[in-house]
Amino acid sequence: MRIVITGHKGQLGSSLWKLLEEGNHLLGIDIPEHDITDVGIIDTIADFRPHIILHPAAYTNVDGCEENPELAYRVNVLGTWHVALAAQQVGAPMLYVSTNEVFPGDREQPYFEWDEPGPINAYARSKLGGERVVQTLLDRFYIVRTAWVFAPGGNNFVSKIVKAAEKYVALRVVDDEFGSPTYAPDLAEAIVRLVRTDMYGIYHFTNSGVCSRYEYALEILKLAGMENVPVTPIPSSEWKRLSTPPKHSILANVAGASLGITLRPWQEALADYFEKTKEGA
Ligand SMILES: NC(=O)c1ccc[n+]([C@@H]2O[C@H](COP(=O)([O-])OP(=O)(O)OC[C@H]3O[C@@H](n4cnc5c(N)ncnc54)[C@H](OP(=O)(O)O)[C@@H]3O)[C@@H](O)[C@H]2O)c1
Repeated sequence: MRIVITGHKGQLGSSLWKLLEEGNHLLGIDIPEHDITDVGIIDTIADFRPHIILHPAAYTNVDGCEENPELAYRVNVLGTWHVALAAQQVGAPMLYVSTNEVFPGDREQPYFEWDEPGPINAYARSKLGGERVVQTLLDRFYIVRTAWVFAPGGNNFVSKIVKAAEKYVALRVVDDEFGSPTYAPDLAEAIVRLVRTDMYGIYHFTNSGVCSRYEYALEILKLAGMENVPVTPIPSSEWKRLSTPPKHSILANVAGASLGITLRPWQEALADYFEKTKEGA
């Protein structure tokens, strides 16, 4: 198959690439060689005549989006519009990767695929804009919402906690923001299974289980062999940052589970990450 993977140098894109490179003809779209905000990208993708387009590329710096919402909209909405127009031109289905942050996170219960979004920050508004573009332009699309993605070599919460523990004698981590850590290789596998079904629509894929940032940090330090570094739980009001993340935006996987697609518990996935990181070291 001919497959386009946008953001193929990123955490999820590179995991998709690894899974699909054997036996397929792939076109990667990532900066600086290919910029999805450039209108010429429509022809670049269409000329490749893909059978399917996988679109994880995004401006993912959440605080950066708050500082520069125009850039967030340019990449996450306009860029997605270009990619979707290419899909429309060649009649290919497209998979757009979105975020748990499209929900406000102000309730205890998990959000279902059909729940009404209500973004509370610039990043989430831009990602929801991307969802709308895909839904407006295409008949055959998948929207996969995920959360708290980590992968070896990526810039993510896991690598930040390990680096911080190497640098400081003690850490402070928020204990009132909850989520489901998601290992990019597990997510990539779920996505590849999904696109083989031709069952279009909105899906929620995260590793299973829920934790606070504080609980997540403790598990990271345990697996990194750094549990001697003390961690103090703090409210998010004491952790100043530009963006406001939703406090409790947990994604319920109903649609994927009905197709038999579920992801393992996040603790198992995190242990796997540390195994892979050691192997690579
Ligand atoms: N990371 C998370 O915790 C998380 C949570 C929920 C949802 N998601 C969604 O999941 C998807 C994948 O996330 P990820 O963590 O794999 O992201 P990532 O590692 O930041 O990868 C995104 C890739 O897209 C590239 N990119 C940025 N602007 C581009 C442009 N204008 N044209 C082409 N490529 C561009 C990035 O390049 P640069 O690195 O040079 O910018 C990067 O290689 C994203 O759509 C994200 O919104 C992520």
